[in-house]
Amino acid sequence: MKNIAIFASGSGTNAENIARLFHQGNRIRVAVVVSNKKNAGVHQRMEALGVPTLYLPNSVWDNDPAQVVDALRPYAPDLVVLAGFMRTIQPAIIDAYRGRMLNIHPSLLPAYGGKGMYGHHVHEAVMAAGEKQSGVTVHYVSDEIDGGEILMQQSVDIVPGDTAETLEAKIHPVEYSLYPRAIVAALQRLDNDGLPSSHAVTEVSATPERAEADHKAPEVPAAPPVPSADEEWAGVLQVKYSDSEARSAAERVSRQAQPPVPTQQPPAVPPRTLPDGERPKSYLAWSVAVTILCCTVAGIVAIIYSASVSSRLSAGDMAGARRASDRAQGWIIASFVLGVLWATLWVPISMLKTVLF
Ligand code: GAR
Repeated sequence: MKNIAIFASGSGTNAENIARLFHQGNRIRVAVVVSNKKNAGVHQRMEALGVPTLYLPNSVWDNDPAQVVDALRPYAPDLVVLAGFMRTIQPAIIDAYRGRMLNIHPSLLPAYGGKGMYGHHVHEAVMAAGEKQSGVTVHYVSDEIDGGEILMQQSVDIVPGDTAETLEAKIHPVEYSLYPRAIVAALQRLDNDGLPSSHAVTEVSATPERAEADHKAPEVPAAPPVPSADEEWAGVLQVKYSDSEARSAAERVSRQAQPPVPTQQPPAVPPRTLPDGERPKSYLAWSVAVTILCCTVAGIVAIIYSASVSSRLSAGDMAGARRASDRAQGWIIASFVLGVLWATLWVPISMLKTVLF
């Protein structure tokens, strides 16, 4: 299991996308999300996913970076991932995670990077310059803002009528697709040689030299679709896993919404699939609970009707007593049949549902 720590300051849609995607597998997990904003949306998103979050104020990030490193230590991150983190990272933090810290930037770096270039400021600058293309860059964090080695890039076309807002809306889904793959590639590098910056493994890359030379958006081939965390992880690290694990991974992939979400909303939430073995247990619990409920209902109704039978008997109303007695019997039989039917048919019906849908 590889641990990721995410730094985020804002809404946290990238953080959520990463956490959800890797939650599908069991090779990589988001161990903690750290924010410099107490009320950032990312806290709620992570709370909903059960991912721990920490808040450290700007004064700590700026004046006591060792405290940030200390706070991360219990989570043993293999990789630190900046996802919309809007604060300059102090050298002490970069040094602690040099070559193990990634950032995502919403332009084709080195164009439109550096101080003051973040979020919508980037898109406004790109539109004001009349660019025909923008894109997304994932790069290692270095001492220079947005200046570290580029790991992956993907371009986005700008068409007539586009605004900074529509460009941002186009860029977000590309980020959701690109960042997880860059994370896997960075972890792969670390596992290969422990020297993340030595050999480029850029599957979708643009040479920074060329981009710098003409300051235009480089030609970048389209990125392949995102594989499941299990598939990718098993593939890149040659991790062996059994056929049944592979099958359940494939099932998960077919059930989850793989294509990136075409708006700024976080990606569609794939249904949470229970690990093998857990589902029958929960069905059994349901069956037992419903059977007990049916028996309890039958018991209560029977008690009510027997009270009615005895009061009618003492009033000499034989016909009324018989009716009450018949009803009591009917209820008991109906509840019993329902309980048995539920208990015996629930498992096969649920299994059929799983197969069909
Ligand atoms: C993302 O578009 C990311 O590229 C950008 O902030 C946004 C965060 O969105 N990062 C920068 O501009 C860094 N210089 P999110 O909070 O919804 O993930």
